[in-house]
Amino acid sequence: METKTIQFIRRGELVSLGNVPPTRTLLEVLREDLSCTGTKEGCGEGDCGACTVVLGEMAHGKLTYRAINSCIRLAHSIDGMALWTVEDLAADDGMLHPAQEAMVHCHGSQCGFCTPGFVMSLFGMYQNHIAPTLATSCAALPPEGAGLAWGGPALAAVAPAPVTACAALPPEGAFAPGGGPLAHRAVANPITRELAVEELSGNLCRCTGYRPILDAAQTMAHWPAAPLDETDLLQKLKQIAPERRGPAADSAYMLPQNLAALLSARAAHPDAQIVAGCTDVGLWVTKMHMQFGQVLDVTQVQELRRIERYDNHVAIGAAVPLTDAFAALVAERPQLKTFANRFAGLPVRNSGTLGGNVANGSPIGDSMPLLIALGASVVLMSERNGKVGHREMALEALYTGYRKNVMAPDEVLAWIKVPGPVSGEQLKAYKISKRYDDDISAVCLVLNLRVADGLVDHVAIGAGGVAAMPVRAVRTEAALRGQPWTLATVQQATATLRGEFQPISDMRASAAYRSEVLGNLMQRFWLESQGLQQINLESFDVKELA
Ligand code: FES
Ligand code: FES
Repeated sequence: METKTIQFIRRGELVSLGNVPPTRTLLEVLREDLSCTGTKEGCGEGDCGACTVVLGEMAHGKLTYRAINSCIRLAHSIDGMALWTVEDLAADDGMLHPAQEAMVHCHGSQCGFCTPGFVMSLFGMYQNHIAPTLATSCAALPPEGAGLAWGGPALAAVAPAPVTACAALPPEGAFAPGGGPLAHRAVANPITRELAVEELSGNLCRCTGYRPILDAAQTMAHWPAAPLDETDLLQKLKQIAPERRGPAADSAYMLPQNLAALLSARAAHPDAQIVAGCTDVGLWVTKMHMQFGQVLDVTQVQELRRIERYDNHVAIGAAVPLTDAFAALVAERPQLKTFANRFAGLPVRNSGTLGGNVANGSPIGDSMPLLIALGASVVLMSERNGKVGHREMALEALYTGYRKNVMAPDEVLAWIKVPGPVSGEQLKAYKISKRYDDDISAVCLVLNLRVADGLVDHVAIGAGGVAAMPVRAVRTEAALRGQPWTLATVQQATATLRGEFQPISDMRASAAYRSEVLGNLMQRFWLESQGLQQINLESFDVKELA
């Protein structure tokens, strides 16, 4: 079966690649087909960040930038986008990008495996947080209208922090490598320590050395600006937009641009491997060496990339990246920010989609316990005999066993509908994993409870890591519902919760540990509901840990 030519923009030039197999990864294309070996392979499974590259995409006429893991991203999925690798940051005259310059001067440069990935995450951070600041404050930038319109940060906007001194910067008047004097830039620095930690969470160094890299993140803004000509880039992206190059149907890699095309492709090719951000399916390719004859990629379906707000719920399209989906949930429930930030690392959240995580149905996926506790429902869609149909069900009803669900071969998961918060809601999301950042849960427990007149009048509990699929703790809910919110009730619920599931032992935890922890988390929820704080890692100041 034929594949369409992949087209993307790199260093301002069009790159066209023909005959790329559907399961070839972006990293393989970069290193083996384009000889761009600056991008490294460490783990090959989205854990370490050595393979980080940045994608630029047009959304609502503006550019968005996302650092992603190229090792598990299928090459065809970047059709129509802009791509930056670590080779693309320095200017043609050799002048380093501020992300690189800051790494050098803060002594953040480390081994050749992790450093390119760190630099690319810094570049993504620069484009998302510093470039917009420069657009309004840097006199050195081109005049208004010259192409610096900002496409909007992927994460919630961060309030600019005061300019901070950089001990690692050379003194004013020192000479830059290219010969020109360095002037410290008096711009507000939007990169706080917390933001740097958050956005570098997907880059691991096995030898430590994070502090100078975090310093580099916080001092990038002080180096001479490296503006991008976004007007020119947007123009080029419009010219290669996949929808201008004909339908994707029947190719070995189908990349439909709208819902109608997706549903017809699914109806016509029920055996095609459906993918979204590939943060799990990518591992089937790199670790299990699976090959797919035909792939159906949902990530460019415009309708499913929308987040729609209604009076009582928010509807999140299945192709919305986890970064944006979590931002929408956190906007309504700020207490979820820590939990959202601990879902893998930023490059995984930038590629993976909420719909992909839900449809995949992994028992250790973190979004399902949360969505179950929030009372979310899913909308499945299909096209049969030329007619589009849909059905809606509670999210937990989607699953029938280990990675098994009720979806028919011609159905796709289209929307996740999440009810908004209600008055008096007590919501806590707990993740227990061996590593704080960038890890998979051993146990995930999300409790959503409301007490009225001393009695539990609403309770929903989602759990992960304790059964073959994401589950709702219905027996524990029954032990709580209508009962007085007292220690005695909680003790009863704790015992029920510990006995409700039969977890397995694996490399992340033993079965006994998982059952014990479930009950401990219930007790922690009780203590926190009584005002006890400072009993979790999140309550430590990040500066103390740096
Ligand atoms: Fe480790 Fe890609 S090589 S995340
Ligand atoms: Fe590169 Fe530690 S210095 S992995």
